[in-house]
Amino acid sequence: MKKNYLTSVSSANTNFPKKLLIWNYWDHEHIVGTHFEHYKKVEITHEDENKCISNRWAKLPLVPFYIKSVDICTLINENKMEVIHTTLFNLIRCKQIFEFEEKNENECKVTRYDFLEVPKIFNFLQPLFDKIMKKWFINVWEEDMPMRKRRLKVWKLGFKDFNGIDYINDPKVNKSKNLNRKYELKLPIPKITHINKYDKKKIFKRLFKNSKHIGYGLPDL
Ligand SMILES: [Fe+2]
Repeated sequence: MKKNYLTSVSSANTNFPKKLLIWNYWDHEHIVGTHFEHYKKVEITHEDENKCISNRWAKLPLVPFYIKSVDICTLINENKMEVIHTTLFNLIRCKQIFEFEEKNENECKVTRYDFLEVPKIFNFLQPLFDKIMKKWFINVWEEDMPMRKRRLKVWKLGFKDFNGIDYINDPKVNKSKNLNRKYELKLPIPKITHINKYDKKKIFKRLFKNSKHIGYGLPDL
């Protein structure tokens, strides 16, 4: 039987390198922090250099309880990512394609295509689905913005994951030598669980559920 979908397309321009945006999508730890209002737990069950499979416990709009979904992220190529969400015993399947169009090191357009598999009888929900997905895109985008800005700022200062900034760690190091390096990305990205000797599982739990989004407002350095 031919599959039937509700669809939506959202896009935005950014002042970030493409690889930094991909880093943001592949960083699973911030899901229960930055997006704490929607997620309470994430468990990575498999990851390699172009795929990440995780279980997520999420609260959807208008649904009064948390729903576990299985999410499969695949980096199809350096400009395209696919995410497949399945939940409620595989009854709900949603596919998202992210396209990254890098204009230069400091500009990248992101376009997200959403496809929700539904029986044809539900096609009348298309306008509502489109509205919800566009709103979701904007809301999540705004939540992610402070960490992207912070990441780029500390990257330009020479920050390395789990090492910090060399000239902060060692005052003898010349401050200017790390500025303007090209943004790099290697998947899977390092995680706090890599340095936790006592628990090999990659499980991230929400530490708070009532808070204000305070962002990461760092003063100019
Ligand atoms: Fe995010």
